[in-house]
Amino acid sequence: MFVIGNIVVPNRVVAAPLAGVTDRAGREMARLFGCGLVYTEMISDMGLVYKQQRTLEMAEVAGESGLVAVQLFGSKPQAMAKAARMLNKMGAQLIDINMGCPTPKIVRNGEGAALMKDPALTRDLLRAVIDAVQVPVTVKLRKGWDENSINYMEIALLAEAEGVKAVALHPRTRQEFFSGYSDWNAIKNLKAHLNIPVIGNGDIWCAADALRMIEQTGCDAVMIGRGAMGNPFIYREAVALLEKGQALPDPTLAERYQAAQLHLDLVIQYKGERVAVREMRKHFAWYCKGLRGATRVRTAINQAVSRDELLAALASITIQADN
Ligand SMILES: Cc1cc2nc3c(=O)[nH]c(=O)nc-3n(C[C@H](O)[C@H](O)[C@H](O)COP(=O)(O)O)c2cc1C
Repeated sequence: MFVIGNIVVPNRVVAAPLAGVTDRAGREMARLFGCGLVYTEMISDMGLVYKQQRTLEMAEVAGESGLVAVQLFGSKPQAMAKAARMLNKMGAQLIDINMGCPTPKIVRNGEGAALMKDPALTRDLLRAVIDAVQVPVTVKLRKGWDENSINYMEIALLAEAEGVKAVALHPRTRQEFFSGYSDWNAIKNLKAHLNIPVIGNGDIWCAADALRMIEQTGCDAVMIGRGAMGNPFIYREAVALLEKGQALPDPTLAERYQAAQLHLDLVIQYKGERVAVREMRKHFAWYCKGLRGATRVRTAINQAVSRDELLAALASITIQADN
């Protein structure tokens, strides 16, 4: 358990914001597998302000059963404040500001990780958003823009002073994108200097990594991203290990199949079969990762045009891997 502002998060396992992954179905999967807090995909402030249909759908969290942080990206304080107010009205329980996205088309607009280059603008932006809403505001940072401008500490202290209620840190620089390693020492350093919760992120690939991050850094919670793609089991394994000291056995092939099927059916429920099948091909490839015959089955997955074809492709590999 840890606390963000007035919100009690029931355990220390957090699902990272992942564009194209933590949609409504992805969030439901994360919750079913035990996550205490789940982030949405990054959502455009301008998309909200201009009421673009797709953005409004992405921001729809009302009625979800657990805690959801809605993540906003943008760079203009007034637009961000307006968007945050809309999110607050739409039922967001927490609002997170994206300060880590490294994608060229985002940073070119001064958004995502580019905000870290401008502490004065960051202060104005956070102040405007915090003033605009009644729910806790959090930020997700990288280590800095590049090796010569490591300023996560400055930005986090500034954020805390402005009233931000938790900081998630993915300690790579923007220039590193996903190369090299997440520098967990930075998480430890941040934890030593902040009073608000620090959520550690980066390179958690199994439950033991989650425990190791908590032990090495003292962070309040762990945030899992890529390690959960095609592997929601990591959430419940991390919860069991962190909260009860239990090491769960690896999922069976049947459990993998069932999880993928459940995930597919949730996406079908929210988006219809045609869109779901197209979107779930990548997930099915992830669900197969590491299983014998995965490469061969990937072609069948990529050509599947119906629920049945996707499931048949997955069944062929789970049965084959059983032999
Ligand atoms: C496919 C993908 C999409 C992502 N989308 C977002 C996003 O929308 N917002 C964000 O703050 N970070 C995003 N990230 C970064 C992750 O939240 C996380 O910080 C990063 O992957 C490091 O954690 P990991 O090693 O557990 O994956 C994304 C990462 C990936 C791989």
